[in-house]
Amino acid sequence: MSDKPWGGRFSQSTDKTVETFTSSIDVDKALYAYDIKGSAAHVKMLAHEKIITEDEASVLLKGLSRVEQGIEQNEMVYSDALEDIHMHIETALGREIGDTAKKLHTGRSRNDQIALDVRMYLKVETQAIMGLLLSFQSILVDIAKNNMDVVMPGYTHLQRAQPVLFSHHLMAYYEMFKRDYERFEDSLKRTDVMPLGSAALAGTTFPLNREYTGQLLGFHRISDNSMDSVSDRDFAMEFISHAAIAMIHLSRFSEELVLWSSSEFSFIMISDAFTTGSSIMPQKKNPDVAELVRGKTARVVGSLMAIITLMKSLPLAYNRDMQEDKEPLFDTVNTLKSCLDIYCRMIPGIEVNRETMYAAAQKGFLNATDLADYLVVKGMPFRQAHSVSGKAVAFALNREKELHELDLDDFRQFSTLIDQDIFEFLSIESMISRRITHGSTGYDSVKTAVEKAEKDIESKTGGK
Ligand code: ARG
Repeated sequence: MSDKPWGGRFSQSTDKTVETFTSSIDVDKALYAYDIKGSAAHVKMLAHEKIITEDEASVLLKGLSRVEQGIEQNEMVYSDALEDIHMHIETALGREIGDTAKKLHTGRSRNDQIALDVRMYLKVETQAIMGLLLSFQSILVDIAKNNMDVVMPGYTHLQRAQPVLFSHHLMAYYEMFKRDYERFEDSLKRTDVMPLGSAALAGTTFPLNREYTGQLLGFHRISDNSMDSVSDRDFAMEFISHAAIAMIHLSRFSEELVLWSSSEFSFIMISDAFTTGSSIMPQKKNPDVAELVRGKTARVVGSLMAIITLMKSLPLAYNRDMQEDKEPLFDTVNTLKSCLDIYCRMIPGIEVNRETMYAAAQKGFLNATDLADYLVVKGMPFRQAHSVSGKAVAFALNREKELHELDLDDFRQFSTLIDQDIFEFLSIESMISRRITHGSTGYDSVKTAVEKAEKDIESKTGGK
């Protein structure tokens, strides 16, 4: 005879290797608090609908809270023989209160129970991540604000392209993390759906009040199809997908931090508290945190591959394959939270080397487009102006000069439309000021973007 809670129809006990192989307790024990909360709500609903008595409910609730205390005080003995957190808690409840424990599982299956636990967990974690994303956004906006007029080279193909404000560059990341926030906000609506009462797959014959359970647990709505309820992991796939995109943003930012803090760039300094040394090269100060955030992106992208492949081709309804959803999900939550958290601590301490950035923006013909624009303003068609500017660049290159270091006579060999005002026109400050379209790097435009961002963050945090 099997001694399992589900062992009624089994004449042989489970092979030990099967117990180890199928057990998920090492992973899903992290869900204990949600499992107990869900069970308590189920008990209250059973009593409310008179499916169990008030006395039984109160015995069950007291027992559940003793089990919870036991887990918190590290008294729970975990064993593969009990498979998962649900059976550990139910068995411990039996030890606490005896036979009444057997009423807990009325009208319930582990299939809808695990779906509930994961949704409860992910609601909390999604909100925590949204909070971290907002903090990080406000850090980026603060640095932008404090370095409003710092100029740097803007790049395409990692080649110097046109001067931009450092604040504008940071605000580009603000936009990315704002979209990440919105994505999580959106998928949270689909996570916030209560599946309990779907039982194994077909619903149950007991008159469960699912709305009531949902209210007790703070869900906005209950699920509408029992088969979908126990087999849906879209919310987890969506979450990991959004997390992967957020990590991609963090890794792009990390790459810039690594480049900018190198001696080749020297645009920023990361504080000693957030860098590490080398065990052999005494001069080294390495941007390990940024490198690890970049590296950890791989785990989350890997988790996304794992969960979407896991769900591919699964027939309805519950399949045990789905037990494999938790490792990628938990790892994604922990990874994204730790990366956001460490950047919220590290980024405010970054030192900005405004002179080096400015000097870099002066070299590499970043004003060549503006020379063409100048000629267009004076009446030359753009294609022709582009070619004239190109020739001026080639001329300057030959003399190891920048465009703004040429003489007026040098310029006038290429076009007599060029006058003394070219020098002011090609200055960095003038180039930035003339970027006036919405969303451009112009001083006014970036100031507007920062103000809008501050308002948006405030409306989401309520000024906290
Ligand atoms: N440990 C399982 C999971 O994570 C819980 C549901 C198991 N259901 C079952 N009928 N074996 O998916």
